[in-house]
Amino acid sequence: MAEPSAFLSDRARGVRQSAVRDVFDLAMTPGVVSLAGGNPWLDDLPLEDLGRVAEGLVARQGHLSLQYGAGQGTPELRDAACTVMAADGIEGADPDLVVVTPGSQAGIDTAARLLGNPGDAVVVEDPTFVGALNTFNTWQLDAVTTPTDEEGLIPAFLRRTLQRLRAEGRRVAFLYTIPSYANPSGALMPAERRDEVARICREEGVLIVEDNPYGQLGFDDAPVPPIAAAHRDQVLYLGTVSKIFAPGVRIGWALVPPVLLREFYLCAESAYICPPVPSQMLATAFLTRFDWQGHVARCAAEYARRCDALVEELEARLDPRVLVTRPAGGFFVWARMPDGVDTAPLMHAAAAEGVVFVPGAAFTPDGGPDPHFRLAFSFVAPEVLREGVRRLAPVLNAAVSGRPG
Ligand SMILES: Cc1ncc(COP(=O)(O)O)c(C=O)c1O
Repeated sequence: MAEPSAFLSDRARGVRQSAVRDVFDLAMTPGVVSLAGGNPWLDDLPLEDLGRVAEGLVARQGHLSLQYGAGQGTPELRDAACTVMAADGIEGADPDLVVVTPGSQAGIDTAARLLGNPGDAVVVEDPTFVGALNTFNTWQLDAVTTPTDEEGLIPAFLRRTLQRLRAEGRRVAFLYTIPSYANPSGALMPAERRDEVARICREEGVLIVEDNPYGQLGFDDAPVPPIAAAHRDQVLYLGTVSKIFAPGVRIGWALVPPVLLREFYLCAESAYICPPVPSQMLATAFLTRFDWQGHVARCAAEYARRCDALVEELEARLDPRVLVTRPAGGFFVWARMPDGVDTAPLMHAAAAEGVVFVPGAAFTPDGGPDPHFRLAFSFVAPEVLREGVRRLAPVLNAAVSGRPG
């Protein structure tokens, strides 16, 4: 019998275990305060009413809901996705260009398979979503970072990155960006910057994959229209119900430029035939028969309250040399230790004190030493967030003052 690893493809051999996996294992320990996972708050959902809908889906519509469905998704859900996108600022999306996916993670995966050859560059924000990095790694794409500030991608650097890759003769599969309340940085890209990013990509002939799970979760402000709103043909846009309804249903969608539509859903079908039908029907019911926008507004208000509690406690307890950014929406606080402090080893010290966070290294392709860390407030009640900070602060403060000099 050959070594088990001999059975693996080169692609699978290259898959790395992310630091986040360790974090999630630690987060499962009873009594631990987890500031790690980007889980939504579900307490506001009308669970009994949804339960009656779910029962009806099987008891009365089982011949439909338990059968194979269309690869592109149900027409009803594609229409409902257009309503959600309109609330995001994408007016008049064509449901024929919507492909339902099992979550936007599957949309990222299909985009990577559809657009990337092994060895191609995918340009990503520094930092970016760990799930996207894992997918790009799996498809042997080379994630090339470009710098960001508190308003997301910095256009001048993006231009330079794309020009450099062109000069090196590299094929750029696409730019992957999360312009609204990014994971992990919380950054919100202003409208003018979105247009500039689109202009640069058009000039460089680079397609944009825009991932927008958090756009409607601003604490005070209306959503900034996605890049796809004004640049439809240049953008493969990904939406999801995971953060505004429920991640367990595994329902997202792609709004695909017409020229890519056929290949996009053929690629998707080859992976999973069709998105899960009962989930599509439940998501459709939520988006058409319930006050989903009221739910989103109440969630955003709760996230704002949680974020305030977390930031207030961090500011009260952390050494002022730890820089904490309060986001204007989304699920995450992104913070930075002084230069030279790597947060990855601190994760274990924090876990020993009963609190977990995600170190910045998880959000970069090289995973090297990184002074940042991400704290998720979305799923944790304010008083528990405060307890988490009480446990975390001594670990971080010791690392700051223990530095040479
Ligand atoms: C930026 C981003 N994209 C995609 C996802 C995955 O979403 P889904 O549950 O729709 O697959 C997440 C989840 O945390 C995310 O933060």
